[in-house]
Amino acid sequence: MEIRVYRAPRIEADIRVPGDKSISHRSALLAALSDGTCRLRNYLRGEDCLGTLRVLRQLGVVIEEESDGTFMVHGCAGRFVATEADLDCGNSGTTMRLMSGLLAAQPFHSRLTGDDSLSRRPMRRVMEPLGLMGAKLRTEGHGDCPPLVIEGSASLQGIEYRLPVASAQVKSCVLLAGLLARGKTTVMQPVTTRDHTERMLEYFGVPVEREGERISVMGGHLPQARDFQVPGDISSAAFWLVAAAAQPGANIVVREVGLNPTRIGLLGILLRMGARLREEEHSKGPGEPIGKIEIIGARLRGTLIGGKEIPNVIDEIPVLAVAGALASGTTTICDAGELRVKESDRLAVVAHHLTAMGAEVTENPDGLVIHGGRPLRGARLSSHGDHRIAMAFAIAGLFAEGETVIEDAECVETSYPGFVEQLRRITNG
Ligand code: S3P
Repeated sequence: MEIRVYRAPRIEADIRVPGDKSISHRSALLAALSDGTCRLRNYLRGEDCLGTLRVLRQLGVVIEEESDGTFMVHGCAGRFVATEADLDCGNSGTTMRLMSGLLAAQPFHSRLTGDDSLSRRPMRRVMEPLGLMGAKLRTEGHGDCPPLVIEGSASLQGIEYRLPVASAQVKSCVLLAGLLARGKTTVMQPVTTRDHTERMLEYFGVPVEREGERISVMGGHLPQARDFQVPGDISSAAFWLVAAAAQPGANIVVREVGLNPTRIGLLGILLRMGARLREEEHSKGPGEPIGKIEIIGARLRGTLIGGKEIPNVIDEIPVLAVAGALASGTTTICDAGELRVKESDRLAVVAHHLTAMGAEVTENPDGLVIHGGRPLRGARLSSHGDHRIAMAFAIAGLFAEGETVIEDAECVETSYPGFVEQLRRITNG
């Protein structure tokens, strides 16, 4: 599938976006571990999150679907059923890494596989802590890449573990294994990463100790069955927020979107770049903050994006780089080397694609320097099978002269079913 994009007329829209990907995965996993039935509303029907449900079903978890799209998950109280079949995690690093924490604690063998992109992503980061807890893991791909084979153990031991990379996936993997291990498990993170797992554990009645960057759980506490409403995904909203921010006079309202403080770095950056923006939180309480974001576009100026801010905007960097190309002055992105091991090497692909569109970009080992303000021209660009690349460059195409074609764009289904239809509605194209 190809997406064809042309320069957008004035962007003015009032929208909702699909459910949050990270939160959907976690809601399914905790519901599956729970001691009863949980209804998950607004669960993301993207390939990644449907993949998590498929893997859970293979492991004996009964999941029904109601007519309004709500998923009803019947928890298995922490005990999965062994399967001889491979557990196919598709394109989803979150599925593979979070599931590996749960499978490490099951008294059986499992094998997790993925598509070409996932088969190039590093797994040592989860193998090391899970090995220290007492599971045996090995990979059958190149280096530490999938397939990932896990010999689980019903007698995992809690550990104290300092994360070598700022990764919410690894943090969550270790905490989930910790629930099923003996004693206390503590994870120390170098900087704050998204805290959906901690919040959701608390929402499902599991005590979590948080002292700065030290997060601990005690083994033996299973989630208690609860219903859960997944908020809209701020990482999906990001595409429209950047499009509106970069078009002077444009106006966009996104409703019922997640406003978790560990995910809204994009808003601070767009403000720094000159956009006018308002956020309003509607619901607090346990779980996740949800609210409304309104942006009025302006002539953006370049900014510096780096340091502790990076984990907070890790999935938004491709579209922020597009914002940088549209802004006046220089936008520097640094400390973002992790982008090289996402669904594609996002630094290399973003640098290549922006250059193809006429922007001036330097690629560094851990980031990009973008000299903004040059006019963009349409180009034919590969998605590299990476959903966020496909969508970020569809947004770039809204500001380019001529036609922009995104090739192999099926991958948008990973996180944003309905993206192309929403693009057409928002741009009247
Ligand atoms: C995710 C964490 C991030 C992010 C990914 C989803 C999660 O990965 O890029 O899309 O749900 O925990 P890392 O934690 O590996 O940086």
